[in-house]
Amino acid sequence: MNAPAKTDEFVAPEAAASKPAIPDGVYAETVLAVEHYTDHLFRFRMTRPPGFRFRSGEFAMIGLMVGDKPIYRAYSIASPAWDEELEFFSIKVPDGPLTSHLQKIKPGDTVLMRKKPTGTLVLDALTPGKRLYMFSTGTGIAPFASLIRDPETYEKFEEVILTHTCREVAELKYGFDLMEEIREHEFLGEMVGDKLKHYPTVTREEYPFQGRITDLMESGKLYTDLGLPPLDPAVDRGMICGSTAMLKDTKALLEKAGLTEGANNKPAEFVIERAFVG
Ligand code: A2P
Repeated sequence: MNAPAKTDEFVAPEAAASKPAIPDGVYAETVLAVEHYTDHLFRFRMTRPPGFRFRSGEFAMIGLMVGDKPIYRAYSIASPAWDEELEFFSIKVPDGPLTSHLQKIKPGDTVLMRKKPTGTLVLDALTPGKRLYMFSTGTGIAPFASLIRDPETYEKFEEVILTHTCREVAELKYGFDLMEEIREHEFLGEMVGDKLKHYPTVTREEYPFQGRITDLMESGKLYTDLGLPPLDPAVDRGMICGSTAMLKDTKALLEKAGLTEGANNKPAEFVIERAFVG
């Protein structure tokens, strides 16, 4: 009986069927770690293509082969621009076209990424200021996970305030893990010091800090809790990432305080991006 000339060219038909060809022009990266926080939330880390550049706060199109077709969704890159790996924070939607599959990934699996990152939650889109407020709900914390780990954020701002509002206490864990990681990081810990303030709140469970961020801004409790004055367009800058309704309501409050919305080609006092849902 003749063996195949080169065993590494021999692919069993069933293996070939389960490994569809990777589409041209996209990166195919390897999953390195997966951490599940709740039934609805997880984060994963994967290899970073050597030529892939992005600015902290941007998003990329992430995908998987489902059957013989790639499915992509927009995901904020949660790791900072200097990191050798890429991190993402995701919800799990039971029948979501992508997340129903993505939530099952394991180390060693392949994740696709389109080549061009983009986004408005970048330091370049803000005019210089003293304090940077990052307003997030749910997985909207992801772009800020990138920015709070980037030294440039602390070069540009004296104080950084990360607000994170979720329905339940368990959903805040990623934010607490990030704070701990920064504190313990060899270089970031010292650079960040007490410049970064974390303000987690919960809306549907008992918790020391309760309520929607918009209500806490309107009542002034946010500022009293932080020991800071109310928003002032001369010194305060904002970034918002959450659901469409949260963006609209938070934006209205920033505008009421006299801040104007900026963009990459027109830096101003605040920028917004919706948290993407898979
Ligand atoms: P709430 O529990 O009062 O709806 P979601 O999972 O629906 O995106 O919500 C995530 C968090 O954002 C929840 O704590 C939710 O509060 C809050 N939220 C929802 N809509 C708004 C809004 N328009 N403004 C501020 N916070 C909001």
